[in-house]
This record gives sequence, C-alpha cells and structure tokens, in this order.
Amino acid sequence: MLFNRDGAIPASWAWKKMLRFVVVFIAVAGFAALLWPSPKHHTAPMRATSNITISPQVQCDPDVDMLHRLNIKKLADYTRREIVVDVNPEPLPLKQKVEEPLWDAKLKAPGNSEQGALQDGCSVSKPLTLQIPPRPKSTDASHIDFGVATTVSRLNESLDQFAHWAGYSRARIFALIEPDETKGKSIQQVKVKAENLGINLFITESEDDYLHRYFALIPILESNMREQTRWGCIIDDDTFFLSMPALVDALGHYDDTKPMYIGGLSEGIPQIAVFGLIAFGGAGVFMSRPLLSDLGTVYDECEQMTFTGDRRIANCIYQYTTTRLTVDHRLHQLDLMKDASGFFEAGREPPLSVHHWKSWFTADMPKLSVISEAFGEDVLLRQWQFSDEWILTNGFSVIQYSLPLDPGDITMEMTWEPHNGATDESYLHELGPLRRKDDDKISFQLEDAVIEPNGRVTQWYIQRDKAGDQVLELSWRKR
Ligand SMILES: *[C@@H]1O[C@H](CO)[C@@H](O)[C@H](O)[C@H]1NC(C)=O
Ligand SMILES: *[C@@H]1O[C@H](CO)[C@@H](O)[C@H](O)[C@H]1NC(C)=O
Repeated sequence: MLFNRDGAIPASWAWKKMLRFVVVFIAVAGFAALLWPSPKHHTAPMRATSNITISPQVQCDPDVDMLHRLNIKKLADYTRREIVVDVNPEPLPLKQKVEEPLWDAKLKAPGNSEQGALQDGCSVSKPLTLQIPPRPKSTDASHIDFGVATTVSRLNESLDQFAHWAGYSRARIFALIEPDETKGKSIQQVKVKAENLGINLFITESEDDYLHRYFALIPILESNMREQTRWGCIIDDDTFFLSMPALVDALGHYDDTKPMYIGGLSEGIPQIAVFGLIAFGGAGVFMSRPLLSDLGTVYDECEQMTFTGDRRIANCIYQYTTTRLTVDHRLHQLDLMKDASGFFEAGREPPLSVHHWKSWFTADMPKLSVISEAFGEDVLLRQWQFSDEWILTNGFSVIQYSLPLDPGDITMEMTWEPHNGATDESYLHELGPLRRKDDDKISFQLEDAVIEPNGRVTQWYIQRDKAGDQVLELSWRKR
C-alpha cells in the first residue's frame, strides 16, 4: 500500500483512512474469498458509511466527517487533484489556457502506482501545475475609514468577513449599533474578537433606527478624521472587498484633495429608476476628506430631508454641494437574483466589492477567499481553461458549458433572474456584453475551503444531484 500523501490531507485523516482501508480490505477480501472464488466478479455493492450512501464508482473511502461537513447524503463520485502553483512575475492574463485535461479517468486508475503520488482510486496521480502572479505587497490602508450601521450580533458575525479585507491593513472601522442590551458585555466580546483578527474597530451605540443610524455615520467619520485620513467609506455589513491592495490602488487613481463621491450603481435599471442615480450602499460609498468636511457643515439640514440611507447621502450631496457621483464600475451592489454565477465566471477584471452574497444569491465570500490567504489576493477568480473544455474559476466554480465559447468571447452569461420588471437590456449598462444563460452548463460550486498550517489550501467543489453528489477536491501547494 502506498500512502505518500505529501501532507495533502491532514495526517489524522490519512491514518483514519488507512485504518478504515485495512478493515474494509480484510472484510471484503474475506467475504470475497468465501463467496466468489473467481476474482472476475468483484463488482462492489452500494456501500453505506454511517448514514451516507456511497456509489461503487467511488474507489476510495472519503472521510466521513468531511462528507457530513459538506452535507453529502449520497456520494456519486469523488475526485481529488493536486495543484502545484508556479509563481510567475511576468504579467499573466486573467484567463489562461492549459494544455492538459482537468479530469483524466486514465490517470485515476488505482493500478498505476509507479508514479508514487497520491494513489487511492479517487486521486488523479499527476499534479497540475498552474501559473499564478506573485502575492501583492501588504498594503497600508490607514488613510481609509469605514463606517457601518448594524447590530451587535450582526457585527460579531461580520467580523470574519471583515478580517479578510480589513485585518492587519490599518484601516479603521466605525460601527454604529443599536443599544447593547447586555450592558456592554457583548460589545466587549466583539472588541476582543476584532482585536484578535487585526481589525481596528470602534463601536458607538445609538437609539436611532437603522436608516437614520446609516446617515449618522457621516458625522462619525467626519469628526474622527485623523491626519492621514483621505477617504471615508460607508458600507453595509454584507459588503465584501475582495482585495485591499486592489482597493487602495483603485482609490489612488482619484484626486482625494477634491470633493469626491464615488460608488457603484445598481446592475438593474429598474432599481436605479426607484432609488435614483446614487452610490448604492451595498457597493460601498466613498467620500473624500474634502467632501466629508463639506457634509459636516450641512448635516442638520440633510437630517431633515425626506429619504433615508444611501438616498439621503446622495440627496444631501446633490442639494448642498456641486459634487456629483463618480461611478467606479468595479464597485458592485450586485442586485442579481438567485444565480450570480455568470458574474463571477465572466473572467473579467475582478470586482473591488460585492454585496447580497448571502441574501439575493449565495456565494460564501470568506470561503471563496481562503485561496487568497495562501497565495495572495490576485489568485481569486482567476481562470484556467483545460484541454477538456472545463473551466476553473478559482474559489468559485468548475464548469463546462454545453457549447464551448469562442476564443476571445467577452460576454457575461445572464444566469440571474430578472428583478423588478427588468429585461435583458436592463443589465447592459453595468454588465454588458451579455449572452443568454446556458441551461445545460455542468457546474461544480465551491462549498468549502480550508487553509492548513503548512500553507496548503484544500477546496471542495460540488455538483449536487438527487442521484448523488459529485465532489472535486483541489489541493493547492507551492512548488
Ligand atoms: C447522520 O449521522 C450523523 C452522525 O453519525 C448525524 O450527525 C447526522 O445528523 C445524520 N444525518 C442524517 C440525515 O440522519
Ligand atoms: C460572537 O461570536 C463568537 C463566535 O465567533 C461567539 O462565541 C460569541 O458568543 C459571539 N458574541 C456575541 C456578543 O454575539
């Protein structure tokens, strides 16, 4: 038996698996010897491990705890493949072609063990080598202050996702929360958690309702500006920045010595018709220091204005200053219903911010971003197209379209459901060029990812099906 796993899987799993393998082997061998003298007839029956059904096609014993964690009841196929990253300092395209198949059944045969790598009938023996860019230098974001109106429990839950972009960046986050019913005990807990994650968090309590609290973030940001402060940004508690280095770089292209109001529009025209030409709050509303100072002088007037939330900010700016909205098309409110995969799989320059990822559609952004922790922010959503027409969008999915795209295709697949009376054309201003949804796309979605102490990242991409789920496990390591 060959179990040279090279640290691919936690050692305890390897041992458990080996033990289980030995037990199963002895049992099966004994049984087979009794009943089937001829080795020709050894078709394996459906197995049931704990309460999980495993198809005979699965030629290994995946860890039961992991299958439970992935919420798998019926496993139809399990493939494990190792990826070795090759850091290339040359500029790399966002979409790269790989002259190798992603899936290769021949390589998965348990017999061919001379190569010595992972051999257990689920693992593809040959690792893939993929080129990635170097990790961006760590950024100093001490010139950006963020403001968020929320509750103490939502703030607590949001800290893990904030840690991805704000942790150890020297940015500050000012949270305005409902009065803490535990007399400060919860606030204290949240502060300790933030500190452990490297987040500079400042908490203020307020009796106001949510939308009034939202606008009250303006004087909080304004009165707390320090010498190096250049930008104030109001976010929702589910606004997620994919890369702080990219955000700092993008803001560096704007003139922060002038009053600037920067944000993203809704992706859907009907939403713009309802809410106006405003910086939609979920994408992050950026205000330069001079604009924040201007707003500080008209705060009382604006507090009397009709609308609340992000609309009040816009109307206050439009009524009391001559500053107008600058749209940054990489800041995304993401008003996309149900399935936003077309957006993430478009292979375009990655967004600076995303929103609605745990409400309108599902994309677990902190899990997507685990790969960034190990190999830098620039590897997230990077694409590789393999010779078998499978496409890996790193952190998000592994897919195959029913018809391969033309090389050089720059369209985005319209996978979402129209919202609020939207037509196809309602999305062009932000997301075009667009193409129709591919109803026969085969799709494995990322559902879990972990980083190990040795810096290896394991991602689980799953295709759910009533007949049984198929799992692709990708394990990334440095050369
Ligand atoms: C399957 O068993 C595990 C424990 O062995 C349990 O936690 C889980 O809830 C069970 N699931 C179902 C669907 O019965
Ligand atoms: C905050 O979250 C942690 C888990 O990360 C939990 O143990 C703690 O009780 C939570 N505190 C509050 C105030 O919600």
